[in-house]
Amino acid sequence: MSDRPKDLMQKLVSLCKRKGFIYQSSEIYGGINSCYDYGPLGVELRKNIKELWWRAMVYERDDIEGIDASILMHPRVWEASGHVDGFTDPMVDCRETKARYREDQVEVYVPKSGEGLMYAFPEGQPESIASKLKKAKADAADYERVLLTEIDVAKYGEIVGPDTKTPGTLTEPRLFNLMFKTFMGPVESDANIVFMRPETAQGIYVNFHNVREAARQKLPFGIAQIGKAFRNEITPGNFIFRMREFEQMEMQYFVKPGSDEEFFEQWKAERLAWYDRVGINKSRLRFHEHGPDELAHYAKAAFDIQYEFPFGWSELEGIHNRTDFDLKRHMEFSKKNMTYHDVETKEKYLPYVVETSTGLDRNMLVSLVDAYDEEEERVVMRFSPVLAPMKAAIFPLVKKDGLAEVAKEITASLRKQFRVFYDESGAVGRRYRRQDEIGTPYCFTVDYDTMEDGTVTVRERDTMAQERISKDQIMNYLVDRVL
Ligand code: GAP
Repeated sequence: MSDRPKDLMQKLVSLCKRKGFIYQSSEIYGGINSCYDYGPLGVELRKNIKELWWRAMVYERDDIEGIDASILMHPRVWEASGHVDGFTDPMVDCRETKARYREDQVEVYVPKSGEGLMYAFPEGQPESIASKLKKAKADAADYERVLLTEIDVAKYGEIVGPDTKTPGTLTEPRLFNLMFKTFMGPVESDANIVFMRPETAQGIYVNFHNVREAARQKLPFGIAQIGKAFRNEITPGNFIFRMREFEQMEMQYFVKPGSDEEFFEQWKAERLAWYDRVGINKSRLRFHEHGPDELAHYAKAAFDIQYEFPFGWSELEGIHNRTDFDLKRHMEFSKKNMTYHDVETKEKYLPYVVETSTGLDRNMLVSLVDAYDEEEERVVMRFSPVLAPMKAAIFPLVKKDGLAEVAKEITASLRKQFRVFYDESGAVGRRYRRQDEIGTPYCFTVDYDTMEDGTVTVRERDTMAQERISKDQIMNYLVDRVL
């Protein structure tokens, strides 16, 4: 595998649009920030990721059940969960430009001498820092970098905000809730406010007893769900990395208190193994443990699985020990008994929860980044075959002499099981390149020998190696390799 190109993100965004993976939402109107649409290949890739997750979570075990809860829930759910009070980021606004920044993501350059103006920038913009200091005829060496959170609010008057020339335009930090609100029914009053869920997990907690009883599960057992979540993120960005509408794949595993730490370790290992199974490069994955100041309001311990994106190591999945926080709060707010009755030991207790939570869109970005490769003559998306959106392409060498008919027959039979592509236009070499660029692992070519002996050429994407197999073997060949 070659090194990543420097402008990988740019190349990927362009490939995703050109080939029909991802489009900016409402593009003909100039787009809407941080919302994206998935095109014909994008939906296939998503479907494959979801299926692999669902298979590992639900089909291959007997201790996890699936559900699909509603996005809109009773508003009290979000009071109980702590999101109404706790799901906030401290923000500062610029009075002049009206821009809004997350306080902990603003860097301030403070004169080492203690005299003179300070300059603020959103984190990670070295070019604008350099150019702004230059304009102010200042030497970067005379400044030291601190975070805005470290500066006394009384001193804000001496800070020149990002994108302004005048000091003192930044407001004091204020807490900003990340939940989207809307109204249920025709009356737009406070009594009718509902929230778009910021995580799918709460739909699982409120159904704990429903699912347990219906599926006759005993502890330890889990509930898995895939669905949309919404967050009014202050600093969305990096393509589909941080969005305001996204999809989560979450699993809550209910365990007896005291066994939570053991299950936490087990799930860390399981989830890392899953990424290996879907073919993500191991050397670009690592754990990151949350320090006390990073922990979410519900968590006793948390590890992220991070991936090395082109813009740095960042969170792909969160694994949390949520204790009995959520069930306890729902019991308090709903006045319904959420305890579990262990028939064998006759004990009654509130289960602890180990949660694994990963973003579908973030998984997509990882799959795309991880797959992108450039060679002299071609761009290849090296998706593992289980993820590849198009499983195979079928070509007749030429259209005439009955070759197209045979290739179409093969295509029709494969379509019963796989997403495959039939292509008869242009030179075969060009057809291969087109499939390489969308990551199709196998191409089957029908030629004159096929008419004689019933064999076709299989060409493998990564090695470009070719072999001949019987056309009756194609289905099995794919079943063994792409599922
Ligand atoms: N229920 C726990 C929970 O929601 P989280 O760490 O806030 O935990 C879990 O989110 C995962 O959801 C993240 O690891 C990420 O993959 C995905 N995610 C969170 N916010 C996102 C956003 N704004 N855009 C895309 N994915 C996001």
